[in-house]
Amino acid sequence: MSLSTQGVNHAPYTMAVSAGLDGLRQIKKLERKDLLGMHDLSSEEVELILDVADCMKGAMSNANVLSECLRGKSLATAFYEPSTRTRTSFERAGKALGMSVTNLQIDVSSVAKGESLKDTALTLQSVGYDAIVIRHWASGAPHFIAKYVSASVINAGDGMHEHPTQALLDLYTMRKVKGRLHGLKIAIIGDILHSRVARSIIFALSKFNSELVVCGPPTMLPRAFSEFGVKVAKRIEEAIEGADIIYMLRIQLERQRVGLFPSIGEYAKLYGMTLERVRLASEDAIVMHPGPMNRGVEIASDLADSEKARILDQVTNGVAVRMAVLWLLLGSQ
Ligand code: CP
Repeated sequence: MSLSTQGVNHAPYTMAVSAGLDGLRQIKKLERKDLLGMHDLSSEEVELILDVADCMKGAMSNANVLSECLRGKSLATAFYEPSTRTRTSFERAGKALGMSVTNLQIDVSSVAKGESLKDTALTLQSVGYDAIVIRHWASGAPHFIAKYVSASVINAGDGMHEHPTQALLDLYTMRKVKGRLHGLKIAIIGDILHSRVARSIIFALSKFNSELVVCGPPTMLPRAFSEFGVKVAKRIEEAIEGADIIYMLRIQLERQRVGLFPSIGEYAKLYGMTLERVRLASEDAIVMHPGPMNRGVEIASDLADSEKARILDQVTNGVAVRMAVLWLLLGSQ
């Protein structure tokens, strides 16, 4: 399922937008039905999505063109776990492209009567949705339903596995600020074990030639990432020294069955990011976080509100990135 970018000139995406819908249709689509994870995306596919997201961002003021892109197509979101950013930005992205969007409220849907995941997916397809965005507590849930429906399935976070559109918007933000994805030092700090965001970012960044360092409580550091060239730092100071990007992860207390660190206070002291610690990184380092933040735990509140932090830019960029994903999966050529 590799993407062929042969014959595609990425440069004139902005021109493609000004040429209207026909221009946009010239952009090569992703040659896949679903977006399930970063693991199986090629670097060319990642860059294509980021380039088209740039195009979408630039075209936001041209609502007439954008709203014709996917007119007549429909999107259902099914979030079995809470979400603010991912769900609202998919809704906004779909509507900006002219899609009709329905947010299935799981707690008052037939899931509450015991309907299975497979039957829920088949039902959404039979109602006529062209795309299903799913977040589920079970790793592999999006992959499971993708086998049964012809609709495009987009993974909005599955258990402790992957969160691909978060990684894409993170890479988009990194590339926007730093101008490149190669030759950077990126420190990922915190609860790596439970983080589908960390997993997707590591899969994504390992396709580019940057230095990746992780740091967190030993009980929260899976060893499996060493095969992706990820270094492990014992101390946070070592991880962030000279870093271009500091990526802080949320402590996911809801996924911990046993206490993996002694106390929140101790975690904040050893692994929390502060304005003082950021001074060890490169002068123009930025701090990122997928949200929602635990202020005062993994990130100090004054740092989160400072110019160093790009957390709200990440959220804004998520709309353009999700527009790009929807267009590249569903747009006709
Ligand atoms: N980063 C992220 O997935 O946020 P939400 O849970 O608010 O969607």
